[in-house]
Amino acid sequence: MKVVISIGGSIIASPVNPEYIKNFSKLLSKLHGEGYKLMVVVGGGRLAREYIEAAKKLGASDDYCDEIGIAATRMNAMLLISALGSEAKNMQVTGGTELGQTTDAVAAKLAGKHRARLLIIATNVAGVYDADPNKNKTAKKFDSLTSEQLLKIVGRKYHPGLAAVVDPIAAEVIHRSKIKTVVVDGRKLENIENAIKGKRHGGTVIE
Ligand code: UTP
Repeated sequence: MKVVISIGGSIIASPVNPEYIKNFSKLLSKLHGEGYKLMVVVGGGRLAREYIEAAKKLGASDDYCDEIGIAATRMNAMLLISALGSEAKNMQVTGGTELGQTTDAVAAKLAGKHRARLLIIATNVAGVYDADPNKNKTAKKFDSLTSEQLLKIVGRKYHPGLAAVVDPIAAEVIHRSKIKTVVVDGRKLENIENAIKGKRHGGTVIE
């Protein structure tokens, strides 16, 4: 079973968390041992955000800010590869690829291209809400959504450093390619494992 995981920089690297990265790498090795074909896309987290903000102040263009963001995602991917050691050859680990999107979009495109059975978006909130749960205490979490509903919630505007739970390009690809997607709170690794194995994960299922 092919699974693509978008692992938020917000959880592995804000600030950089070697203990989490080690435990995540152990989960990936275990899943590989159980027969899952894994593709993992790593987010930029605080490093990306701080550098993009600084670059903006220094007069960098949006494109150049995206280049800097991509570099941050690759640094974080390199940490995960370090933790995986020789296991890294058993799966695909990547960061950002092209300008104008986030790593969620990289993951959605990979899932579409390789016809993955499942896309996991592991982030630092419990799922997709009707408002930002970090700013709005009454925000309501969805247990399930159609991809049309996701598109409406996410909107269509992108900017470098965008912090939406699923980026608009990813939402568009999920909708177009009909990729089953689960948005989970990845701070607890068991949520990721449960989402992959069809057990209770507390997140939002999009199909
Ligand atoms: P992230 O994927 O980390 O953004 O990319 P995010 O959603 O804000 O992060 P987390 O994972 O939830 O913390 C960071 C930035 O890198 C650039 C964009 O500017 C993005 O905001 N980027 C990333 C690209 O331009 N292209 C890519 O393929 C990936």
